Amino acid sequence: MHRKINIAIDGYSSCGKGTLAKALAKALGYVFIDSGAMYRAVTLYMQREGVNVDDEDAVSLALEHVVVGFQNNAEQQSEVTLNGVCVESEIRNIEVASKVSEVAKIGAVRTKMVALQQAIGSNKGVVMDGRDIGTVVFPDAELKIFMTASQEVRAQRRFAELLAKGDDVTLEEIAKNLQHRDAIDASRENSPLTMTADYRVLDNSDLDRDAQFALAMGWVEAAIQGV
Ligand code: CDP
Repeated sequence: MHRKINIAIDGYSSCGKGTLAKALAKALGYVFIDSGAMYRAVTLYMQREGVNVDDEDAVSLALEHVVVGFQNNAEQQSEVTLNGVCVESEIRNIEVASKVSEVAKIGAVRTKMVALQQAIGSNKGVVMDGRDIGTVVFPDAELKIFMTASQEVRAQRRFAELLAKGDDVTLEEIAKNLQHRDAIDASRENSPLTMTADYRVLDNSDLDRDAQFALAMGWVEAAIQGV
């Protein structure tokens, strides 16, 4: 029997972390956790309640009323819940995206989400994607992958995703949002997006899903064997 490991996938906005994480979790029979969905759910709560997300104290206070979790849908895919209700679709809209990085830089928000993420990963067998998974959440993860892709490719991919959902957005709006979030995520004081020497870098600008999966699976097998 293979030992179970934790796999951390970090990187910039919209570079396909979730796609790879889901595929790896499925192939390995592991749990997939989209940590970004948790920050998005907190942001949705603040927006619904009319909390000013630029007011850290107000957000920290309102956070006491927020319970974020995951549940499996009929297709056994994990979906994020906010106070017990699935919000998987709502959290992907541009309104939430426009403010999520402001909410995610608040210390109290990170402390609460990281504690939950660490509890989920305590028994291993988790693939989690985000910005600080290999640096803060699971610093001892057996495999850490840093994903990246060119800005144009990332904006095009997210634009196509939202168009397919029927959202009324422009490519320019998406590109601006990705740049805005990347800038905040990489420069914030609390757990900025960064990479350490123990990460494997995966640039998928010119890789299709199968090629990136094959590359990552090779790393997974080596990590399971401890090499
Ligand atoms: O899917 P996409 O790349 O657009 O972003 P996401 O993974 O849904 O994350 C949304 C936002 O949550 C990011 O831009 C970060 O501000 C924040 N986030 C974070 O701070 N830490 C994480 N571990 C994951 C997401």
